[in-house]
Amino acid sequence: MGVVVNLEEGKRGAGSIKRLIELTADDMARVNELILSKAGSDVELIPELAWHLISSGGKRLRPMLTLAAAQMFGYSGEGHVKLATSVEFMHTATLLHDDVVDESDLRRGRKTARMIWGNQASVLVGDFLLGQAFRMMVDVGSLEALDVLSTAAAIIAEGEVMQLDVSKNLETTEDEYLSVIKAKTAALFSAAAEVGPIVAGASRNDRAALRSFGMNLGLAFQLVDDALDYGGSTTDLGKNVGDDFREGKVTLPVILSYRRGSEEERQFWKKAIEENETDQAALDKAVRLMNKHGAIGDTISRARHFGEIARDALAPLKNEPQKVALIDVIDFCISRVA
Ligand code: IPE
Ligand code: IPE
Ligand code: MG
Ligand code: MG
Ligand code: MG
Repeated sequence: MGVVVNLEEGKRGAGSIKRLIELTADDMARVNELILSKAGSDVELIPELAWHLISSGGKRLRPMLTLAAAQMFGYSGEGHVKLATSVEFMHTATLLHDDVVDESDLRRGRKTARMIWGNQASVLVGDFLLGQAFRMMVDVGSLEALDVLSTAAAIIAEGEVMQLDVSKNLETTEDEYLSVIKAKTAALFSAAAEVGPIVAGASRNDRAALRSFGMNLGLAFQLVDDALDYGGSTTDLGKNVGDDFREGKVTLPVILSYRRGSEEERQFWKKAIEENETDQAALDKAVRLMNKHGAIGDTISRARHFGEIARDALAPLKNEPQKVALIDVIDFCISRVA
């Protein structure tokens, strides 16, 4: 039996990042100021385009991870604000690039920048933001933080290229899929969490704990994102549901349905994913097959599994309010679907 995705249920559920938002509110106000000033440029198109995306919100999840992870180890300087801003800029840059690669029309409830200013401007402004992110890291002066974040930047790009490589390939294994999402999404979550203890001068074990927390949270986050692309609502997500299907993305719900399907069902998947037969009727059928084979439910189970690893990564740490808030994030991510 498939598990029907129920976003409404999730909203009423336990997963809330209220605590994280409260704990990081003062620091986030400074991050938001810095975002504004560092997105500025005399080249007018840059702030115009960047502002379109930045002002449309987003959850700001990754910078809050950095701030909470630094606070948790008693950090009292300014470096974490700059690192958190760098992390959000890296994320913003990847979104600008991602919407070009994915040919997406909607982001954060608005037309994507590429629909308004074109692909070229989107890619180049993404590059500008990435450059600004690195300047802020250098300002902080921690070579270790620079190492972690610059490594993540390279790995994210590798993940996106790996994804191109397996694109439309229905034989993609779950392992290969996991390698892709680890690189394209989880690497940034991991780096965002790890630079907190780094800037706070915490121990190697503390760094490793936060790195592992971020990595596994990131895997859970992308698994949920991939489930929501079939079961969420466009209004809630601010991006078009079904984008992955229309793009022929071989995400876990597709991998599981294809592997578990009959010969006839596999023919359907080949037509859809390899030959772009992806109209509304095909999307409806895809969701029916996913539910028949429990593919969405099992994608969410996998997310829960990585969520548990993230929780255990933090288990040995002192019960600071920030630790509780970070653990809430796991439930928040999962409750977006379950
Ligand atoms: C979107 O990330 C990109 C993925 C890794 C799925 P978010 O869902 O965190 O995007 P915003 O910043 O809240 O819009
Ligand atoms: C996100 O993957 C990974 C990034 C590096 C941005 P998606 O392509 O699934 O993200 P959305 O669904 O467009 O936000
Ligand atoms: Mg995308
Ligand atoms: Mg993408
Ligand atoms: Mg997605």
